[in-house]
Amino acid sequence: MKVLVVGSGGREHVICWKLAQSSRVDELYCAPGNGGIASVAKCVDIKATEIDKLVDFAKQGQFDLVFVAPEDPLALGLVDKLEAEGIRAFGPRANAAIIESSKAFSKNLMRKYNIPTAKYELFDDEQAALDYLETQKMPIVIKCDGLALGKGVIIAQDLQEAKDAVKSMMGDKKFGDAGSTVVIEECMVGPELTILAFSDGEHAVPMISSRDHKRVNDHDEGLNTGGMGAVTPGADLTDADMEAIRNRIITPTIEALKKEGRPFKGVIYFGLMLTDEGAKVVEYNCRFGDPEVQAILPLLDGDLMDIIDAVIDGNLDKIDINWRDKKSCVVVMASGGYPVSYKKGYEITGIDTCGKLVFQAGTALNSEGKIVTNGGRVLCVYDEGDTLDEAIDGAYEGVKKISFTDMHYRTDIGRTLG
Ligand code: AMP
Ligand code: GLY
Repeated sequence: MKVLVVGSGGREHVICWKLAQSSRVDELYCAPGNGGIASVAKCVDIKATEIDKLVDFAKQGQFDLVFVAPEDPLALGLVDKLEAEGIRAFGPRANAAIIESSKAFSKNLMRKYNIPTAKYELFDDEQAALDYLETQKMPIVIKCDGLALGKGVIIAQDLQEAKDAVKSMMGDKKFGDAGSTVVIEECMVGPELTILAFSDGEHAVPMISSRDHKRVNDHDEGLNTGGMGAVTPGADLTDADMEAIRNRIITPTIEALKKEGRPFKGVIYFGLMLTDEGAKVVEYNCRFGDPEVQAILPLLDGDLMDIIDAVIDGNLDKIDINWRDKKSCVVVMASGGYPVSYKKGYEITGIDTCGKLVFQAGTALNSEGKIVTNGGRVLCVYDEGDTLDEAIDGAYEGVKKISFTDMHYRTDIGRTLG
């Protein structure tokens, strides 16, 4: 098979790494890819959001499959356009990807189908939002409706902070059109947990659970990021806990989307909070989480291509999906200054000699063929073990052997709740 993966982060690196191991994949391409992906796939210089160019490339090259990994091209309808050209594609169509591209849509879906989530109100008028805040208990959560790279969420501790958040999103348009509508919702308390599931539109099969660490600094301090590290499993869930999550959240969501005429085929991401009242949905995403998937996919025992086929063909109930019985950890190494501003182009040393699996994100090959930094989250280091401590210690051993100017990483991945 000839396969094209769309995207350029650590998530796409682990997907390419896993697909490269499939006996069914003969030729692997990635658009646009990165410095690390170049070692397992041919990188093509087309951005993930250049939809028409990607469709043309897939058509001209007679690809057997296009795997669309990031949310932006999914929301822009890349899968719909590929399908219209008769090209097999993995990922939800735009009408189902909306569960991530519009928080207003997903909150309304959860309300309509009684899926547990924080109480909320939606606003498209700034003054109405400011007036509503006066009546609410603090802390409170303000979110942009649209896509904002995981950064359009403010947990305001007091009224002034809440008002400033509304003004920056709706008045100053800090996140552009993504903030034209805001969600104001109750602040939930509890550990967070990520459940990713394969879905073929009818059936959902959860993967092993994981836990992301979203804040930039140790002790869960500082700004929210795309994710600074992850571990599996994400919590010590009993079978009964998992059954409740399946019956109250996973199955109702897949059924709700089907009923709404938006069957979800691909990977669905449930960002959960384990509150005193049980698990509640913080957010849905329409794709593998990054960096969660870098901790999960290395434990998949079997060929990812078989699962991709089952998802596309609606056969998920007919296959077995198995995981190796290990715990795992990934630690993200980021550019100093991320998630606000940072420099690029610093040489990275130690990747090949650190003795661990490294999935690259913001990296590029410079004109001398050296790997240099090229983004905020630069790479992540993976390790696994029989215990979580072994996995965490192993990942940090690798981190200590990698170096670049101004590098920043958390030292407590897997040792705090998030
Ligand atoms: P989201 O982009 O919706 O996942 O939000 C980013 C992060 O903000 C989440 O991972 C949580 O840590 C936090 N968050 C979002 N919504 C809430 C909420 N209602 N209560 C408490 N924390 C929240
Ligand atoms: N790690 C969070 C996300 O992928 O959205």
